[in-house]
Amino acid sequence: MPDRVRERILETYRQIAETYDAEVSERFGVSRWGIESLTGMLLREMKVPENPVALDIACGTGLSTFSLADYLGRGDVHGVDLSPDMVRKAVENAEKIGYDIDFREGDVEKLPYPDDVFNMAISNMSFQFFIDKLKALKEIHRVMAPGGRVGHLFGGGKHFAQLIDLCLEVSGDDPHLREFHEAVEDVVRLHVDLEAVQGLLWEAGFRKPLVYGYHRVMNVKPEAFWFSNPYPAYWRASVPEETRVKLDDKVISEMRERSGPRGFKVTWYTIQAYGSKPTG
Ligand SMILES: C[S@@+](CC[C@H](N)C(=O)[O-])C[C@H]1O[C@@H](n2cnc3c(N)ncnc32)[C@H](O)[C@@H]1O
Repeated sequence: MPDRVRERILETYRQIAETYDAEVSERFGVSRWGIESLTGMLLREMKVPENPVALDIACGTGLSTFSLADYLGRGDVHGVDLSPDMVRKAVENAEKIGYDIDFREGDVEKLPYPDDVFNMAISNMSFQFFIDKLKALKEIHRVMAPGGRVGHLFGGGKHFAQLIDLCLEVSGDDPHLREFHEAVEDVVRLHVDLEAVQGLLWEAGFRKPLVYGYHRVMNVKPEAFWFSNPYPAYWRASVPEETRVKLDDKVISEMRERSGPRGFKVTWYTIQAYGSKPTG
């Protein structure tokens, strides 16, 4: 699984790097409740260190990194992401708003930093993509200074379960949608629940864990949701252009079929997970 998932992530974010901000950002786009609010929820649980040296892991186009910089109000801020297209966009965005942030390309499983550097780290809406989560957490632990705290906010557990079930059903018997079916199955395999995250944090060496989750039920317009949310974009990226229209038709008509008067119900299952690198 690892290589094909990594390739799919790179291809997805290559395809959506230019449009990501317009869909999910409150600062750069039209979102009324998007990435910056989520990052705010993640940061609300974190103390600002005296001299912050902070890392945003899987920083994407920098939306979460800029929120991190705003929250800290001082110190050094760094961002790293697997996708060169997202990093390029992050650099462009930082120039646009005049933020001095060191953005780098890199995989969470092999971070491009020396040991014991950061006294704070976050990752926003990204942990669900990490392929080897224990390896990723051990690597984050390595680059963190003793006493530093890491926080993750991500979709886990039964995140978007209704849409996932629907996608698996409509693609199950269709040979043209085999890759799409596999992409959705991989997503399910990569989801973790509260107990699993807590165990992983502990095994990677983090202590003082705080792990909790909550649900948000949303009734969405099938077409708008399918085409604007980055999650379906991630599954669709593995489908050849000519098959995509067929897939879109199938999924959207099935979502309509299963919609109530206020739309198609999706449950957003968010997990927040924190841990500290011990000082001793
Ligand atoms: C939904 S975006 C979130 C970006 C940003 N944190 C935000 O809140 O807007 C997920 C990001 O995770 C990155 N990503 C996925 N797997 C990664 C990995 N193994 N290492 C580093 N970044 C990764 C993707 O390239 C993508 O930019």
